[in-house]
Amino acid sequence: MTPSEDPAGVEVALVRSAEEMARALEIRRRVFIEEQRVPEAEEIDRHDGDPARVTSAVHVLARRDGRPVGTGRLLLEYARDEHAHIGRVAVLAEERGHGVGRAVMRALEAEARTRGFGGITLGAQLHAIPFYERLGYRARDAIFLDAAIEHRWMDLVFPRSP
Ligand code: COA
Repeated sequence: MTPSEDPAGVEVALVRSAEEMARALEIRRRVFIEEQRVPEAEEIDRHDGDPARVTSAVHVLARRDGRPVGTGRLLLEYARDEHAHIGRVAVLAEERGHGVGRAVMRALEAEARTRGFGGITLGAQLHAIPFYERLGYRARDAIFLDAAIEHRWMDLVFPRSP
């Protein structure tokens, strides 16, 4: 994936180094651990780490005017014709509402398509469901708890190429 830039000055690129991963994790620390009070032991897992070593996920880092402001990750441990999972989508509180979250999602979806996945599945916090619906995702099934936060499963099926 090459870095993509949207009209709001947001550039999203794959995390390719331990230094970039640290910047992505700092955003998640501020959003999930400090703002949402998710325990650190639940927030950081085996999919997070130096991309030279961790192959179960790819992460993206969004910069707005050069500053790291958003992140998200794509879990890859699924069959190619199944859905990949997106998670840990986070935008710094003061940077929300400028299209950063959308740019993060579109970059992760593009990466999943490139890798041959048929779509995306994610567990959405209830407050974020309208955000994902704006991007074409549809909610299904009952509410479940993850890190003591209410979620629902949502899916996006990629249109098949002709
Ligand atoms: N409710 C309704 N609509 C929302 C919304 C919300 N909570 N958040 C964003 N949107 C809409 C925007 O208005 C915009 O609509 P448009 O199509 O009219 O332009 C669209 O979704 C894209 O918004 P964007 O500016 O790209 O989103 P963002 O940068 O503010 O990021 C989150 C959205 C959810 C990633 C951000 O609020 C966040 O990091 N929240 C805390 C972490 C979190 O809960 N992550 C999700 C875990 S499942």
